[in-house]
Amino acid sequence: MSAEVLRVEKLDAGYGKFHVLFGVDLVVRQGEIVVLLGPNGAGKSTLLNAVVGMADVFGGRVVLSGRDITGKPPHEVMKMGVAYVMQSPNNFGTPNVFGELTVYENLLAASIGLPRDEVSRRIEEVYSLFPKLRELRDRKAKFLSGGERQMLAISLGLMKKPTLLMLDEPTAGLAPKLVGEFFHAIKEIRDKLGISILLVEQNARKALEIGDRAYVLVTGRIKYSGAAKELDEEKLASLFLGG
Ligand SMILES: Nc1ncnc2c1ncn2[C@@H]1O[C@H](COP(=O)(O)OP(=O)(O)OP(=O)(O)O)[C@@H](O)[C@H]1O
Ligand SMILES: [Mg+2]
Repeated sequence: MSAEVLRVEKLDAGYGKFHVLFGVDLVVRQGEIVVLLGPNGAGKSTLLNAVVGMADVFGGRVVLSGRDITGKPPHEVMKMGVAYVMQSPNNFGTPNVFGELTVYENLLAASIGLPRDEVSRRIEEVYSLFPKLRELRDRKAKFLSGGERQMLAISLGLMKKPTLLMLDEPTAGLAPKLVGEFFHAIKEIRDKLGISILLVEQNARKALEIGDRAYVLVTGRIKYSGAAKELDEEKLASLFLGG
């Protein structure tokens, strides 16, 4: 069995005194795409927030590649190899791209600290993942369409070649035609770049097609964990309804 990239153990978390997650256990192994599903307000984003120190942890542990990172602040967790593409819009009012910079400048900004030849290699990598971005390289990010901006947001996460990429509803609000393209790109990120992925999605059927394992979170508790293939729509609907 592959090594664990992320282990969340008996996690209790929330914001201030507000309790959102209760005893959550979740693992992402090297090379896996793990899908996290659940109704609105279940706590999916809070779980990702807790991993990077953006939510308060009341109990339990977060372990990254064997190292305890519970409660570490976002910049430290990211330095340790986690990329987090937040849901957009999110509760923190954080934009996921730099609007006043061009696509190319955004990519450069996200790669500060990397050697120059590595920067160009990474930029080529994301251009081949999302060819549209190459055409748009000189456009300011604030003028991009929703889908284009999301391509850029994911690309920014990839610049430092993370060990774990966490994507929160990357296909929300996209045209159906584009949704397929995104799922393909996500699979490529795992297959070609070897990056393990934790994917939160509303588009359950498509996510389960590319996912290895899945978790279902309902009102802050894990109600299913197992093979993605074994989770059909009927089972999922009954879990969402509290079955
Ligand atoms: N920054 C925050 N401060 C306080 N409460 C928050 C914050 N973010 C989320 N919450 C609350 O935590 C609960 C879980 O929200 P969360 O965003 O984790 O759900 P979710 O499963 O991601 O939902 P969605 O599918 O709508 O994105 C909700 O009741 C929400 O109101
Ligand atoms: Mg969310």
